[in-house]
Amino acid sequence: MSIVYLEKHRLFEIRTARTSYLFGVNEKGTVQHLYWGAPVEAADCAGLLRGRHHSSFDADVDRETEEYGGWGGCGYAEPGLKATFADGVRDVRLNYEGYEIWGDNELVLRLKDEHYELRVDVRYKAVPEHDLIERYVQVSNGEAQPVRIEQVMAAIWSVQRLPAYRMTHVAGRWAGEYQLRRTFLSEGKKTIESRRGFTGPHANPWLAIDDGSAGEETGSVWFGALGWSGNWKIVAEKTTFGHVRIAGGVNDFDGAFSLAPGASYTSPVFVGGFTAGGFGGMSRSLHRYERECVLPTRKLRKVLYNSWEATEFAVTAEGQKALARQAARLGVERFVVDDGWFGQRHSDRAGLGDWYVNPEKFPNGLQELIDEVKSLGMEFGLWVEPESVNPDSELYRKHPEWTYQFPTRTGTQLRNQLLLNLGLPEVKSFVLGFMTDLLSTYDIRFIKWDMNRTVTEPGVVPLREHFEESGRPEYDGHPEGAVSLGGAEPWTGSAGMEGIEHSGGSVWLRHAEHLYEIWAELRARFPDVEFETCAGGGSRIDLGILRYADQAWISDNTDARDRLAIQEGFSYAYAPAVMMCWVTESPHGFNGRSLPLSYRFHSSMMGGLGIGADIGKWPDDEIAEAAAYVELYKRIRPIVLEGDLYRLEPLGPGNGQERSNLAVYEYVGPDGEEAVAFVFLQSQHFGSELLHLPLRGLDPQAAYEVRVNEGEPAVRSGSTLLHLGVPIGLRGDYKSLLIRLKKLP
Ligand code: DGJ
Repeated sequence: MSIVYLEKHRLFEIRTARTSYLFGVNEKGTVQHLYWGAPVEAADCAGLLRGRHHSSFDADVDRETEEYGGWGGCGYAEPGLKATFADGVRDVRLNYEGYEIWGDNELVLRLKDEHYELRVDVRYKAVPEHDLIERYVQVSNGEAQPVRIEQVMAAIWSVQRLPAYRMTHVAGRWAGEYQLRRTFLSEGKKTIESRRGFTGPHANPWLAIDDGSAGEETGSVWFGALGWSGNWKIVAEKTTFGHVRIAGGVNDFDGAFSLAPGASYTSPVFVGGFTAGGFGGMSRSLHRYERECVLPTRKLRKVLYNSWEATEFAVTAEGQKALARQAARLGVERFVVDDGWFGQRHSDRAGLGDWYVNPEKFPNGLQELIDEVKSLGMEFGLWVEPESVNPDSELYRKHPEWTYQFPTRTGTQLRNQLLLNLGLPEVKSFVLGFMTDLLSTYDIRFIKWDMNRTVTEPGVVPLREHFEESGRPEYDGHPEGAVSLGGAEPWTGSAGMEGIEHSGGSVWLRHAEHLYEIWAELRARFPDVEFETCAGGGSRIDLGILRYADQAWISDNTDARDRLAIQEGFSYAYAPAVMMCWVTESPHGFNGRSLPLSYRFHSSMMGGLGIGADIGKWPDDEIAEAAAYVELYKRIRPIVLEGDLYRLEPLGPGNGQERSNLAVYEYVGPDGEEAVAFVFLQSQHFGSELLHLPLRGLDPQAAYEVRVNEGEPAVRSGSTLLHLGVPIGLRGDYKSLLIRLKKLP
């Protein structure tokens, strides 16, 4: 039983394996947070439940620790809920109304405004084995008039009193996502957010707080991750009374919406956790949670080949067949055709939106390629970007009113494209329709779902009239011989959005909601198809989309050295089980850096392995070397994808400066029988030094067979490996090792 209510003290306790989370109802009837951290005796915390008043300027200081509060009265901290009632009152006072405990792990805390029939259910679900709590709210309007919701956070987390508060998060940009950042909080707010319509590469909805002393394996860390793929916001606020609270949810910026009488709004889930095991402990908790509770399946990632970097838009049936034959020689399991197979898509200037197979590129249709791929023992996958449209496309000429635009503005084009307003039922229907046609016409087992631009001009006023007046672009129809995939079938209604008007700020909500609904429906209709979330690299990865996606494309930067930093930052919050990494060309086009094949493979073997190079040009000896790596990867794959990750020697401390020339990561398999470590030396300076690298997660009593770069095995005791370590004799620049460990009986 994880949830306990101590009637005598009006205290709630949520227990996980190694944490206590406590709040109680104070004498004013507000719910006050009391404690979150290593286990404590709940009744001992009863004394913390008291009103605090500093002066008439700082009345109700205890509101700073409110478990979930509205903006109203003396509550000046970032609110959970801000609303305006139909009579113009803009003050929300949420009082405790009761609770319900569901099963062993779920608690609903019922709050109600002191005057209006506006209720907030604050929901908690303990995930005891991972020391996590999932939180979200449900806001219900029982008034006879609509209520305007101006801000609704999924959760507010309070962190223990600490001597200092350090916040860890990631920042980035296209091709430089997931760069770790650390900053100390002073009084005020530090906000990370997206206003770009998707999760974004600039920030990601995950953060961690410690007192500045936590390391990879030691120290207390509080952390949280929000599952939302639209506009989001997380505010870390330190008040002048020294309290730190983390509010997170859908971004209120331009996001106000009207909640109809009788309707309710359900927020996304904001999961929070505590560990005494440092940042490594945090990541392992999140990784296990993602694998066991978030991801739609537990399948291991297939080794894939993707043609994008080899051909870009110059896709042809013959070219793809030649690549497929090479890919099969490498041991690839899934062959994926990227952008360029459809419509008049010869560059990024045209064709997006026209989801029919290009008849010039595939004169005998797509089936011929699929048959070839299958006959080579691989499955077939395809790239799509359903939310986007080029103005130079049949779709846009037919339906200009489907795009996000304001009538008096020229829509901003990014990568020569506009975005479809997925919130419109007809657009949702179109996307679901062509995807259904595509997946039922062909034996496609994998979809890479891309989105290559941010949202701008998020107008929702249907633009039909506007285009009727100002003249519609010509629609030419499909070129002769084209296979139509555009037969949309009726798909209306969105479960999550009933009672929320389709205008203004709700446009941001609707896009993400409809995206989730489309993915859920496609998964239900095509259970054998796996999906990858991609948005111009890693711009749409969060715990929301990961409920529907099997894997994630984390960056368009495939330079294996840069990738180490991106992958490392990603791994703080997200599991290697979803992290797709490709081996590409050397010298690499992005940085012009040359890296040996071994380094490129080792870097890419730390997640889901893919090959993205122009393998048609690879000589036989390189193909043979690569095939050996693929074979080795298949052997270690369960350890990497299902195991525990230890960042033994991370690249960066998060301040943009590199700490070490070494980067070392160890994965211990789920049953503890096998482990694998990847060691990277960037450059050697001042001569060589034989290092010993202590490992983690091994059995000190056991003996292990240790094999470095598939050389002769040696036997070492677990205790020696844990305390003295493995000898690392790397010399030179861009050198790497793969060390395999196997417990001996
Ligand atoms: C951006 C993706 O991240 C790339 O991998 C590739 O699919 C291109 N889009 C295609 O346009």
